[in-house]
Amino acid sequence: MYDVVIIGGGPGGYASALYAHNFGLSVALVEKDSVGGTCLVRGCIPAKTWLQAAEVFTTVKRAAEFGVIASEPTFDWSAGLARKNQVVTGLVKGLSGLLKQRKVDVIDGFGRLDGPGRVIVNKGGEEQVLEARNVIVATGSVPRSIPNYDFDGVHIVSSDHALDWGAQPARVAIIGAGIIGCEFASMLVDLGSEVHVFDILDRIVPGVDTPAANELQKALKRRGVKFHLGVSVAPPVVGAGSVTVGFGDESVEVDTVLVAVGRGPLTSDIGLETTKVETERGYIHADRQTQMTAEPGVYAVGDVLAGVPGLAHGAFAEGIAAITFIATAEPAPVNYQALPNVIYTHPEVAEVGWSEEVAKEKGLDVEVHDHSFMGVGRAIIVGENKGTVRIVVEKDGPIVGASIVGPHAGEMIHELMYSVGWEALPAEAAAFIHAHPTLSEAVGETLISSTGRSLH
Ligand code: NAI
Repeated sequence: MYDVVIIGGGPGGYASALYAHNFGLSVALVEKDSVGGTCLVRGCIPAKTWLQAAEVFTTVKRAAEFGVIASEPTFDWSAGLARKNQVVTGLVKGLSGLLKQRKVDVIDGFGRLDGPGRVIVNKGGEEQVLEARNVIVATGSVPRSIPNYDFDGVHIVSSDHALDWGAQPARVAIIGAGIIGCEFASMLVDLGSEVHVFDILDRIVPGVDTPAANELQKALKRRGVKFHLGVSVAPPVVGAGSVTVGFGDESVEVDTVLVAVGRGPLTSDIGLETTKVETERGYIHADRQTQMTAEPGVYAVGDVLAGVPGLAHGAFAEGIAAITFIATAEPAPVNYQALPNVIYTHPEVAEVGWSEEVAKEKGLDVEVHDHSFMGVGRAIIVGENKGTVRIVVEKDGPIVGASIVGPHAGEMIHELMYSVGWEALPAEAAAFIHAHPTLSEAVGETLISSTGRSLH
Protein backbone atom coordinates (compact mmCIF):
# COMPACT_ATOMS: atom_id res chain seq x y z
CA MET A 1 0.00 0.00 0.00
CA TYR A 2 1.45 3.34 -1.07
CA ASP A 3 0.74 6.61 0.72
CA VAL A 4 0.27 8.21 -2.69
CA VAL A 5 -0.18 6.85 -6.21
CA ILE A 6 0.08 9.50 -8.87
CA ILE A 7 -1.28 8.98 -12.37
CA GLY A 8 0.73 11.05 -14.85
CA GLY A 9 4.39 12.06 -14.74
CA GLY A 10 4.19 15.64 -16.07
CA PRO A 11 4.86 18.75 -13.96
CA GLY A 12 1.79 18.18 -11.75
CA GLY A 13 2.60 14.52 -11.18
CA TYR A 14 6.37 14.68 -10.85
CA ALA A 15 6.25 17.77 -8.59
CA SER A 16 3.84 15.89 -6.31
CA ALA A 17 6.15 12.86 -6.33
CA LEU A 18 9.27 14.91 -5.62
CA TYR A 19 7.68 17.01 -2.90
CA ALA A 20 6.33 13.95 -1.06
CA HIS A 21 9.84 13.11 0.20
CA ASN A 22 9.66 16.13 2.51
CA PHE A 23 7.09 14.19 4.53
CA GLY A 24 8.49 10.68 4.12
CA LEU A 25 5.51 9.51 2.05
CA SER A 26 5.80 6.37 -0.09
CA VAL A 27 4.99 7.18 -3.70
CA ALA A 28 4.33 5.42 -7.00
CA LEU A 29 4.27 7.51 -10.16
CA VAL A 30 2.49 5.90 -13.12
CA GLU A 31 3.53 7.18 -16.55
CA LYS A 32 2.67 5.73 -19.97
CA ASP A 33 5.37 7.58 -21.97
CA SER A 34 8.23 9.48 -20.45
CA VAL A 35 8.46 11.31 -17.14
CA GLY A 36 8.38 15.04 -17.78
CA GLY A 37 5.04 15.00 -19.56
CA THR A 38 3.86 17.65 -21.97
CA CYS A 39 5.96 20.45 -20.54
CA LEU A 40 9.29 18.69 -20.68
CA VAL A 41 8.82 16.45 -23.71
CA ARG A 42 6.41 18.21 -26.08
CA GLY A 43 5.66 21.63 -24.64
CA CYS A 44 7.45 24.32 -22.71
CA ILE A 45 11.00 22.99 -22.81
CA PRO A 46 11.27 22.03 -26.51
CA ALA A 47 9.31 25.12 -27.59
CA LYS A 48 11.57 27.44 -25.64
CA THR A 49 14.64 25.65 -27.01
CA TRP A 50 13.44 26.39 -30.56
CA LEU A 51 12.68 30.00 -29.58
CA GLN A 52 16.19 30.33 -28.18
CA ALA A 53 17.62 29.08 -31.48
CA ALA A 54 15.60 31.77 -33.26
CA GLU A 55 16.91 34.38 -30.86
CA VAL A 56 20.53 33.38 -31.43
CA PHE A 57 19.92 33.46 -35.20
CA THR A 58 18.44 36.96 -34.96
CA THR A 59 21.28 38.15 -32.75
CA VAL A 60 23.90 36.90 -35.23
CA LYS A 61 22.01 38.59 -38.06
CA ARG A 62 22.24 41.85 -36.13
CA ALA A 63 25.88 41.36 -35.17
CA ALA A 64 27.18 44.14 -37.45
CA GLU A 65 25.10 46.69 -35.47
CA PHE A 66 27.37 45.92 -32.53
CA GLY A 67 30.52 46.04 -34.63
CA VAL A 68 30.82 42.29 -34.86
CA ILE A 69 31.51 41.26 -38.43
CA ALA A 70 30.14 37.81 -39.12
CA SER A 71 29.00 36.33 -42.40
CA GLU A 72 25.27 36.15 -43.09
CA PRO A 73 24.04 33.24 -40.92
CA THR A 74 22.02 30.33 -42.18
CA PHE A 75 19.91 28.09 -39.99
CA ASP A 76 20.66 24.38 -39.83
CA TRP A 77 17.24 22.98 -38.87
CA SER A 78 18.49 19.48 -38.15
CA ALA A 79 21.12 20.86 -35.78
CA GLY A 80 18.36 22.88 -34.08
CA LEU A 81 16.27 19.73 -33.79
CA ALA A 82 19.23 17.78 -32.42
CA ARG A 83 19.85 20.43 -29.77
CA LYS A 84 16.17 20.45 -28.85
CA ASN A 85 16.29 16.66 -28.44
CA GLN A 86 19.50 16.90 -26.44
CA VAL A 87 17.99 19.47 -24.05
CA VAL A 88 14.85 17.35 -23.58
CA THR A 89 16.75 14.08 -23.14
CA GLY A 90 19.13 15.65 -20.64
CA LEU A 91 16.30 17.04 -18.55
CA VAL A 92 14.30 13.79 -18.68
CA LYS A 93 17.40 11.91 -17.53
CA GLY A 94 17.95 14.40 -14.72
CA LEU A 95 14.35 14.12 -13.61
CA SER A 96 14.44 10.31 -13.70
CA GLY A 97 17.57 10.40 -11.56
CA LEU A 98 15.98 12.76 -9.07
CA LEU A 99 12.85 10.60 -8.79
CA LYS A 100 15.03 7.57 -8.15
CA GLN A 101 17.04 9.43 -5.55
CA ARG A 102 13.79 10.40 -3.83
CA LYS A 103 12.77 6.71 -3.86
CA VAL A 104 9.72 7.25 -6.05
CA ASP A 105 8.60 4.04 -7.78
CA VAL A 106 8.14 5.05 -11.40
CA ILE A 107 5.75 2.54 -12.97
CA ASP A 108 5.67 2.28 -16.73
CA GLY A 109 2.15 1.85 -18.11
CA PHE A 110 -1.34 3.31 -18.45
CA GLY A 111 -2.97 4.01 -15.09
CA ARG A 112 -6.68 3.78 -14.48
CA LEU A 113 -8.62 4.27 -11.26
CA ASP A 114 -10.58 1.26 -10.10
CA GLY A 115 -12.53 2.92 -7.34
CA PRO A 116 -10.84 5.23 -4.84
CA GLY A 117 -7.58 3.85 -3.48
CA ARG A 118 -6.93 1.42 -6.35
CA VAL A 119 -5.07 2.07 -9.58
CA ILE A 120 -4.70 -0.57 -12.29
CA VAL A 121 -1.66 -0.13 -14.48
CA ASN A 122 -1.78 -1.68 -17.93
CA LYS A 123 1.43 -2.27 -19.84
CA GLY A 124 0.99 -4.15 -23.12
CA GLY A 125 -1.98 -6.11 -21.74
CA GLU A 126 -0.24 -7.00 -18.45
CA GLU A 127 -2.00 -5.57 -15.43
CA GLN A 128 -0.60 -4.49 -12.08
CA VAL A 129 -2.77 -3.34 -9.20
CA LEU A 130 -1.56 -0.54 -6.94
CA GLU A 131 -3.26 0.11 -3.60
CA ALA A 132 -3.08 3.67 -2.32
CA ARG A 133 -4.19 5.72 0.65
CA ASN A 134 -4.37 8.67 -1.74
CA VAL A 135 -4.44 9.03 -5.51
CA ILE A 136 -3.44 12.15 -7.40
CA VAL A 137 -4.78 12.47 -10.94
CA ALA A 138 -2.28 14.40 -13.07
CA THR A 139 -3.00 13.06 -16.55
CA GLY A 140 -2.66 16.42 -18.30
CA SER A 141 -3.97 17.56 -21.65
CA VAL A 142 -3.63 17.08 -25.39
CA PRO A 143 -3.92 19.48 -28.35
CA ARG A 144 -7.45 20.03 -29.62
CA SER A 145 -8.38 20.53 -33.24
CA ILE A 146 -11.35 21.96 -35.12
CA PRO A 147 -13.75 20.28 -37.57
CA ASN A 148 -12.13 19.33 -40.91
CA TYR A 149 -8.67 19.87 -39.46
CA ASP A 150 -7.89 16.42 -38.09
CA PHE A 151 -4.20 16.01 -37.33
CA ASP A 152 -2.36 13.88 -39.88
CA GLY A 153 1.11 14.90 -38.74
CA VAL A 154 2.10 16.24 -42.17
CA HIS A 155 -0.40 18.66 -43.69
CA ILE A 156 -2.34 19.36 -40.51
CA VAL A 157 -0.21 19.25 -37.40
CA SER A 158 -0.41 19.93 -33.69
CA SER A 159 2.30 21.55 -31.59
CA ASP A 160 3.44 17.99 -30.70
CA HIS A 161 4.30 17.36 -34.36
CA ALA A 162 5.67 20.84 -35.05
CA LEU A 163 8.28 20.56 -32.31
CA ASP A 164 9.65 17.56 -34.20
CA TRP A 165 9.48 18.82 -37.78
CA GLY A 166 12.38 17.24 -39.67
CA ALA A 167 12.76 20.26 -41.93
CA GLN A 168 11.79 23.88 -41.77
CA PRO A 169 8.49 24.59 -43.50
CA ALA A 170 8.89 27.50 -45.88
CA ARG A 171 5.24 28.54 -45.55
CA VAL A 172 3.06 27.86 -42.52
CA ALA A 173 -0.53 28.65 -41.60
CA ILE A 174 -1.16 28.73 -37.88
CA ILE A 175 -4.77 28.45 -36.77
CA GLY A 176 -5.20 30.03 -33.36
CA ALA A 177 -3.44 33.21 -32.26
CA GLY A 178 -3.19 32.06 -28.66
CA ILE A 179 -0.01 31.52 -26.72
CA ILE A 180 1.12 28.46 -28.69
CA GLY A 181 0.24 30.02 -32.05
CA CYS A 182 2.14 33.21 -31.28
CA GLU A 183 5.21 31.44 -29.89
CA PHE A 184 5.48 29.35 -33.06
CA ALA A 185 4.82 32.41 -35.25
CA SER A 186 7.62 34.31 -33.51
CA MET A 187 10.10 31.45 -33.84
CA LEU A 188 9.26 30.58 -37.45
CA VAL A 189 9.22 34.12 -38.79
CA ASP A 190 12.60 34.81 -37.18
CA LEU A 191 14.01 31.71 -38.84
CA GLY A 192 12.72 32.90 -42.21
CA SER A 193 9.43 31.05 -42.79
CA GLU A 194 6.40 32.78 -44.29
CA VAL A 195 3.85 32.76 -41.46
CA HIS A 196 0.09 33.31 -41.59
CA VAL A 197 -1.86 33.38 -38.32
CA PHE A 198 -5.63 32.95 -38.24
CA ASP A 199 -8.04 33.49 -35.38
CA ILE A 200 -11.79 33.76 -35.06
CA LEU A 201 -11.30 36.56 -32.57
CA ASP A 202 -10.13 39.98 -33.71
CA ARG A 203 -7.25 40.03 -31.26
CA ILE A 204 -4.36 37.78 -30.34
CA VAL A 205 -3.58 35.96 -27.06
CA PRO A 206 -7.06 36.22 -25.52
CA GLY A 207 -7.00 36.62 -21.76
CA VAL A 208 -3.73 38.56 -21.87
CA ASP A 209 -3.77 42.29 -21.01
CA THR A 210 -5.05 43.95 -24.22
CA PRO A 211 -2.41 46.73 -24.57
CA ALA A 212 0.32 44.09 -24.08
CA ALA A 213 -1.31 41.81 -26.67
CA ASN A 214 -1.52 44.71 -29.14
CA GLU A 215 2.13 45.54 -28.62
CA LEU A 216 3.09 41.91 -29.27
CA GLN A 217 0.94 41.79 -32.39
CA LYS A 218 2.58 44.95 -33.75
CA ALA A 219 6.05 43.53 -33.11
CA LEU A 220 5.26 40.23 -34.86
CA LYS A 221 3.61 42.07 -37.75
CA ARG A 222 6.68 44.30 -38.14
CA ARG A 223 8.81 41.18 -38.52
CA GLY A 224 6.52 39.79 -41.22
CA VAL A 225 3.83 37.65 -39.55
CA LYS A 226 0.60 38.01 -41.51
CA PHE A 227 -2.41 38.10 -39.20
CA HIS A 228 -5.87 37.18 -40.43
CA LEU A 229 -8.03 37.96 -37.42
CA GLY A 230 -11.77 37.79 -36.94
CA VAL A 231 -12.04 35.15 -39.67
CA SER A 232 -13.31 31.59 -39.94
CA VAL A 233 -11.16 29.22 -41.94
CA ALA A 234 -12.73 27.03 -44.63
CA PRO A 235 -11.90 23.31 -44.74
CA PRO A 236 -8.31 22.84 -45.93
CA VAL A 237 -7.63 21.79 -49.52
CA VAL A 238 -4.71 19.40 -49.51
CA GLY A 239 -2.74 19.34 -52.77
CA ALA A 240 0.51 17.72 -53.80
CA GLY A 241 2.97 19.15 -51.30
CA SER A 242 0.77 22.05 -50.27
CA VAL A 243 -2.36 22.97 -48.33
CA THR A 244 -4.71 25.81 -49.20
CA VAL A 245 -6.53 27.55 -46.39
CA GLY A 246 -9.49 29.69 -47.41
CA PHE A 247 -11.05 32.49 -45.41
CA GLY A 248 -13.82 34.72 -46.77
CA ASP A 249 -13.01 35.34 -50.44
CA GLU A 250 -9.31 34.87 -49.89
CA SER A 251 -6.98 31.94 -49.48
CA VAL A 252 -3.34 31.22 -48.77
CA GLU A 253 -1.26 28.29 -49.94
CA VAL A 254 1.19 26.88 -47.41
CA ASP A 255 3.29 23.78 -46.86
CA THR A 256 1.66 22.85 -43.60
CA VAL A 257 -1.02 23.97 -41.15
CA LEU A 258 -0.38 24.10 -37.43
CA VAL A 259 -3.60 24.00 -35.42
CA ALA A 260 -3.20 25.66 -32.01
CA VAL A 261 -6.75 26.29 -30.82
CA GLY A 262 -6.26 25.18 -27.25
CA ARG A 263 -5.80 21.97 -25.34
CA GLY A 264 -8.30 19.55 -23.82
CA PRO A 265 -8.04 17.39 -20.66
CA LEU A 266 -6.94 13.77 -20.89
CA THR A 267 -9.48 12.25 -18.52
CA SER A 268 -11.87 10.17 -20.65
CA ASP A 269 -10.38 6.74 -20.03
CA ILE A 270 -8.88 6.83 -16.56
CA GLY A 271 -11.68 5.26 -14.53
CA LEU A 272 -13.13 8.45 -13.06
CA GLU A 273 -16.57 6.84 -13.38
CA THR A 274 -15.53 4.35 -10.69
CA THR A 275 -15.27 7.25 -8.23
CA LYS A 276 -17.34 10.25 -7.16
CA VAL A 277 -14.96 12.65 -8.95
CA GLU A 278 -16.96 15.43 -10.64
CA THR A 279 -16.04 16.67 -14.09
CA GLU A 280 -17.15 19.39 -16.46
CA ARG A 281 -16.39 18.91 -20.19
CA GLY A 282 -13.70 16.48 -19.06
CA TYR A 283 -12.06 18.90 -16.61
CA ILE A 284 -11.95 17.79 -12.98
CA HIS A 285 -13.37 19.86 -10.16
CA ALA A 286 -11.08 20.02 -7.16
CA ASP A 287 -11.23 22.03 -3.98
CA ARG A 288 -9.07 25.18 -4.25
CA GLN A 289 -7.81 24.82 -0.68
CA THR A 290 -6.70 21.19 -0.82
CA GLN A 291 -6.84 19.93 -4.45
CA MET A 292 -9.21 17.19 -3.27
CA THR A 293 -11.95 16.12 -5.67
CA ALA A 294 -15.51 15.17 -4.69
CA GLU A 295 -14.06 11.71 -3.91
CA PRO A 296 -12.19 11.83 -0.58
CA GLY A 297 -8.62 10.63 -1.06
CA VAL A 298 -8.59 11.43 -4.79
CA TYR A 299 -6.84 14.66 -5.76
CA ALA A 300 -6.29 16.42 -9.07
CA VAL A 301 -3.52 18.74 -10.23
CA GLY A 302 -2.34 20.31 -13.48
CA ASP A 303 -4.06 20.68 -16.85
CA VAL A 304 -6.94 18.34 -15.90
CA LEU A 305 -8.31 20.93 -13.46
CA ALA A 306 -11.42 22.96 -14.18
CA GLY A 307 -11.30 26.73 -13.88
CA VAL A 308 -7.59 27.39 -13.46
CA PRO A 309 -4.90 28.19 -16.04
CA GLY A 310 -3.04 25.21 -17.52
CA LEU A 311 0.50 26.22 -16.67
CA ALA A 312 3.41 23.99 -15.69
CA HIS A 313 4.34 26.16 -12.72
CA GLY A 314 0.68 26.20 -11.65
CA ALA A 315 0.82 22.40 -11.73
CA PHE A 316 3.98 22.42 -9.55
CA ALA A 317 2.14 24.56 -7.01
CA GLU A 318 -0.97 22.37 -7.13
CA GLY A 319 1.19 19.28 -6.54
CA ILE A 320 2.79 20.94 -3.52
CA ALA A 321 -0.66 21.89 -2.23
CA ALA A 322 -2.05 18.35 -2.65
CA ILE A 323 0.93 16.69 -0.97
CA THR A 324 0.99 19.21 1.87
CA PHE A 325 -2.66 18.53 2.59
CA ILE A 326 -2.21 14.76 2.34
CA ALA A 327 0.73 14.85 4.74
CA THR A 328 -0.38 17.47 7.23
CA ALA A 329 -4.17 17.90 6.79
CA GLU A 330 -3.38 21.64 6.61
CA PRO A 331 -4.57 23.44 3.47
CA ALA A 332 -1.81 25.21 1.53
CA PRO A 333 -3.80 26.73 -1.33
CA VAL A 334 -2.21 27.98 -4.54
CA ASN A 335 -2.07 31.75 -4.80
CA TYR A 336 -3.37 32.06 -8.37
CA GLN A 337 -3.55 35.85 -8.07
CA ALA A 338 0.25 35.97 -7.93
CA LEU A 339 0.89 33.23 -10.51
CA PRO A 340 2.93 34.71 -13.36
CA ASN A 341 2.17 33.97 -16.98
CA VAL A 342 4.95 34.27 -19.56
CA ILE A 343 4.75 34.16 -23.34
CA TYR A 344 8.19 33.43 -24.77
CA THR A 345 7.73 35.26 -28.04
CA HIS A 346 10.10 37.95 -29.19
CA PRO A 347 9.41 40.30 -27.47
CA GLU A 348 8.46 38.38 -24.38
CA VAL A 349 5.20 39.15 -22.66
CA ALA A 350 4.75 38.49 -18.97
CA GLU A 351 1.96 39.29 -16.59
CA VAL A 352 0.85 38.70 -13.05
CA GLY A 353 -2.33 39.49 -11.14
CA TRP A 354 -5.13 41.44 -12.73
CA SER A 355 -5.00 43.48 -15.89
CA GLU A 356 -6.86 46.81 -15.90
CA GLU A 357 -9.83 45.14 -17.65
CA VAL A 358 -10.06 42.29 -15.15
CA ALA A 359 -9.63 44.59 -12.14
CA LYS A 360 -12.47 46.79 -13.42
CA GLU A 361 -14.66 43.73 -14.05
CA LYS A 362 -14.08 42.84 -10.42
CA GLY A 363 -15.38 46.28 -9.45
CA LEU A 364 -12.04 47.77 -8.40
CA ASP A 365 -11.28 51.45 -8.88
CA VAL A 366 -7.81 51.24 -10.43
CA GLU A 367 -5.09 53.40 -11.93
CA VAL A 368 -2.62 52.23 -14.54
CA HIS A 369 0.98 53.41 -14.69
CA ASP A 370 3.44 52.51 -17.40
CA HIS A 371 6.99 53.11 -18.48
CA SER A 372 8.54 52.43 -21.85
CA PHE A 373 11.88 50.70 -22.36
CA MET A 374 12.64 53.37 -25.00
CA GLY A 375 14.94 55.47 -22.83
CA VAL A 376 16.20 52.73 -20.49
CA GLY A 377 20.00 52.64 -20.81
CA ARG A 378 20.47 48.90 -20.51
CA ALA A 379 17.69 48.24 -23.04
CA ILE A 380 19.45 50.55 -25.52
CA ILE A 381 22.77 48.79 -24.83
CA VAL A 382 21.14 45.40 -25.43
CA GLY A 383 19.51 46.74 -28.58
CA GLU A 384 16.01 45.86 -27.37
CA ASN A 385 14.36 49.05 -26.21
CA LYS A 386 10.84 48.46 -27.45
CA GLY A 387 8.26 47.47 -24.88
CA THR A 388 6.44 48.65 -21.82
CA VAL A 389 6.08 47.90 -18.13
CA ARG A 390 2.57 48.47 -16.88
CA ILE A 391 1.25 48.18 -13.34
CA VAL A 392 -2.32 48.23 -12.14
CA VAL A 393 -2.87 49.83 -8.74
CA GLU A 394 -6.04 50.03 -6.70
CA LYS A 395 -6.77 53.71 -5.89
CA ASP A 396 -5.19 54.41 -2.49
CA GLY A 397 -4.43 50.71 -2.31
CA PRO A 398 -1.98 48.00 -3.34
CA ILE A 399 -0.55 46.87 -6.66
CA VAL A 400 -3.01 44.31 -8.04
CA GLY A 401 -1.45 43.43 -11.36
CA ALA A 402 1.31 44.04 -13.87
CA SER A 403 2.39 43.26 -17.38
CA ILE A 404 5.72 43.60 -19.14
CA VAL A 405 6.38 43.48 -22.86
CA GLY A 406 10.06 43.55 -23.67
CA PRO A 407 13.45 41.94 -23.23
CA HIS A 408 13.59 39.34 -20.46
CA ALA A 409 10.03 40.19 -19.38
CA GLY A 410 9.66 36.63 -18.10
CA GLU A 411 12.50 37.14 -15.63
CA MET A 412 11.55 40.65 -14.55
CA ILE A 413 7.91 39.85 -13.83
CA HIS A 414 8.92 38.11 -10.62
CA GLU A 415 9.63 41.26 -8.67
CA LEU A 416 6.11 42.38 -9.51
CA MET A 417 4.89 38.92 -8.49
CA TYR A 418 6.10 39.75 -4.97
CA SER A 419 4.43 43.16 -5.11
CA VAL A 420 1.13 41.58 -6.13
CA GLY A 421 1.47 38.59 -3.77
CA TRP A 422 2.37 40.73 -0.79
CA GLU A 423 -0.19 43.39 -1.74
CA ALA A 424 2.53 46.04 -1.69
CA LEU A 425 1.55 49.67 -1.74
CA PRO A 426 3.22 51.54 -4.63
CA ALA A 427 5.20 53.75 -2.23
CA GLU A 428 6.54 50.69 -0.39
CA ALA A 429 7.70 49.01 -3.59
CA ALA A 430 9.05 52.26 -5.07
CA ALA A 431 11.26 52.83 -2.03
CA PHE A 432 13.64 50.10 -3.23
CA ILE A 433 16.40 51.17 -5.61
CA HIS A 434 17.04 49.22 -8.80
CA ALA A 435 20.62 48.75 -9.96
CA HIS A 436 21.77 50.93 -12.84
CA PRO A 437 22.02 50.16 -15.69
CA THR A 438 19.54 47.28 -15.73
CA LEU A 439 16.40 46.39 -17.63
CA SER A 440 14.63 46.18 -14.27
CA GLU A 441 14.94 49.94 -13.92
CA ALA A 442 11.89 50.12 -16.17
CA VAL A 443 9.99 48.42 -13.35
CA GLY A 444 11.51 50.82 -10.81
CA GLU A 445 10.51 53.83 -12.90
CA THR A 446 6.95 52.51 -13.22
CA LEU A 447 6.76 52.07 -9.46
CA ILE A 448 8.03 55.62 -8.88
CA SER A 449 5.48 57.02 -11.32
CA SER A 450 2.74 55.12 -9.49
CA THR A 451 3.47 57.29 -6.43
CA GLY A 452 2.59 60.38 -8.45
CA ARG A 453 6.24 61.39 -8.94
CA SER A 454 8.73 60.59 -11.66
CA LEU A 455 12.48 60.30 -12.10
CA HIS A 456 13.48 59.97 -15.75
P1 NAI B 1 -5.12 29.39 -26.29
O1 NAI B 1 -6.38 29.16 -25.57
O2 NAI B 1 -4.06 30.25 -25.71
O3 NAI B 1 -5.46 30.01 -27.74
C1 NAI B 1 -6.28 29.37 -28.67
C2 NAI B 1 -6.65 30.36 -29.75
O4 NAI B 1 -7.33 29.65 -30.78
C3 NAI B 1 -7.55 31.47 -29.29
O5 NAI B 1 -7.03 32.71 -29.70
C4 NAI B 1 -8.88 31.14 -29.98
O6 NAI B 1 -9.62 32.29 -30.29
C5 NAI B 1 -8.40 30.45 -31.23
N1 NAI B 1 -9.39 29.58 -31.88
C6 NAI B 1 -10.22 28.69 -31.29
N2 NAI B 1 -10.99 28.09 -32.23
C7 NAI B 1 -10.61 28.61 -33.43
C8 NAI B 1 -11.02 28.40 -34.77
N3 NAI B 1 -11.98 27.52 -35.08
N4 NAI B 1 -10.43 29.13 -35.75
C9 NAI B 1 -9.48 30.02 -35.45
N5 NAI B 1 -9.05 30.26 -34.21
C10 NAI B 1 -9.61 29.56 -33.21
O7 NAI B 1 -4.57 27.93 -26.65
P2 NAI B 1 -3.15 27.44 -27.13
O8 NAI B 1 -2.37 28.55 -27.73
O9 NAI B 1 -3.40 26.24 -27.94
O10 NAI B 1 -2.45 27.03 -25.78
C11 NAI B 1 -3.07 26.11 -24.90
C12 NAI B 1 -2.63 26.35 -23.49
O11 NAI B 1 -1.32 25.89 -23.31
C13 NAI B 1 -2.58 27.81 -23.07
O12 NAI B 1 -3.81 28.32 -22.65
C14 NAI B 1 -1.59 27.78 -21.94
O13 NAI B 1 -2.26 27.47 -20.75
C15 NAI B 1 -0.67 26.65 -22.31
N6 NAI B 1 0.59 27.18 -22.82
C16 NAI B 1 1.31 28.02 -22.07
C17 NAI B 1 2.48 28.54 -22.53
C18 NAI B 1 3.26 29.48 -21.73
O14 NAI B 1 2.95 29.65 -20.55
N7 NAI B 1 4.27 30.15 -22.29
C19 NAI B 1 3.00 28.20 -23.85
C20 NAI B 1 2.13 27.32 -24.58
C21 NAI B 1 0.99 26.84 -24.06
